[in-house]
Amino acid sequence: MAKVKTKYVCQNCGYSSLRWSGKCPDCDTWSSMTEEIISTGKKKFSGNSSIKVNDGTYNLISEISSVNDSRIKTGISELDRVLGGGIVAGSVILIGGDPGIGKSTLMLQLAEKVKDKKILYVSGEESASQIKLRAERLNFHLKNFYVLSETSLDIIQAVAERENPDLIVVDSIQTVYRPEIESAAGTVSQLRESTALLMFIAKKSSIPVFIVGHITKEGMIAGPKVLEHMVDVVLQFEGERTHSYRILRGIKNRFGSTNEIGIFEMTEEGLKEVLNPSEVFLSQRNYGSSGCVISASLEGTRPVLIEVQALVSSTSYGFPQRTSMGFDYKKLNIIIAVIEKKLGLFLDKNDVFINIAGGIKIDEPAIDLAVAMSIYSSYRDIPVDSDTVILGELGLSGEVRTISYIDKRITEAAKLGFKKIIIPKGNLKNLNLDKYKSEITGVEKIKDAVEKLI
Ligand code: TYD
Ligand code: MG
Repeated sequence: MAKVKTKYVCQNCGYSSLRWSGKCPDCDTWSSMTEEIISTGKKKFSGNSSIKVNDGTYNLISEISSVNDSRIKTGISELDRVLGGGIVAGSVILIGGDPGIGKSTLMLQLAEKVKDKKILYVSGEESASQIKLRAERLNFHLKNFYVLSETSLDIIQAVAERENPDLIVVDSIQTVYRPEIESAAGTVSQLRESTALLMFIAKKSSIPVFIVGHITKEGMIAGPKVLEHMVDVVLQFEGERTHSYRILRGIKNRFGSTNEIGIFEMTEEGLKEVLNPSEVFLSQRNYGSSGCVISASLEGTRPVLIEVQALVSSTSYGFPQRTSMGFDYKKLNIIIAVIEKKLGLFLDKNDVFINIAGGIKIDEPAIDLAVAMSIYSSYRDIPVDSDTVILGELGLSGEVRTISYIDKRITEAAKLGFKKIIIPKGNLKNLNLDKYKSEITGVEKIKDAVEKLI
């Protein structure tokens, strides 16, 4: 009997080696090397020239008929937006997220919305009756919906061929496996080969396939690099589990932009689309408390008003704490340094906590000034006028730098009734101020902002 050969594969990046090591030499992840069996059934490339190339194997681009980009509209406008206008035929869409965030719920709601389509739902996580229970609880009347509780891809492929559905959902990729690959389900080899087979099914039959993937502790879809470049679209479903808001973010999209996000709220009746995010994020505002500042962030192409909350308190254990929720921690430290240097406000004996209300994450510099002002306001315990929106990026020398899409942000703030808007001075010159009902003030330095506000 032939000796079984094994290799060690990094479960994070797919690097393989014959020897085990504690740390992956490629991506530096610890304890990620797992033993996998080397497939023995592979034919060697013989390099012979007996392969016949027929006409039509390759073509001039001008002679290739373009696929008509007919998309299935999902009817969930937040999802359609992120997908770039619907599901493209034969596309493979990976949707990743933490366990319990609502991926399966979203897939079921999608099925409910495209009722007239035939859907094959492959579930390796929940039993068929559990899915039925969930559908009943959500009051869905799914007709053309087939549930396949199976994890072997051979069977899944056979069922897909037999039923020829309009849409396949695989929940989740970590539970399915290809029997001919000897590694366990969920390992990089299995993920890669399973995804490859699903890609093949999708491309051959033009059936779009949704693949649900769990995210690892480090916040990446397991085997991220190997999967992300294979599939057509990568969506990430994120949010704080303790908050009800969920954000669907496009990470990669071969058929549209990745600038879009979809916002949902998890309710008793499943996921609800949030069509007016600004109103939602400001719905529980604290009027007149110090440390609370409103700013406008651009989420995708939509401006969203958010509330930045800061709490500055005296340090009780020698070393001051800085904690940030929803905002970049390093950026917070930079902003604190700028405040200390440019406003002469020393925070070395203070803890600083920052929170973006509603559990949304912002990674945009346009709210820097708002963060700085919220810290200042909390430190001095003087509230910032609750009718004001603050916009601007903060530079290291305390200058307020211009930001993009200023018009969109101002329009959104004005729409929600904010009377005063502080913006970077540099943004003033391209604006027609008469257009807006709100009073718009340009500031050049962080100091000017403090004088205008407090
Ligand atoms: P689920 O879709 O099972 O998450 P995933 O597939 O990403 O692991 O969502 C599970 C969570 O969503 C569960 O903790 C309860 C919550 N939930 C609601 O709050 N309301 C609902 O109507 C549904 C279906 C789920
Ligand atoms: Mg699930």
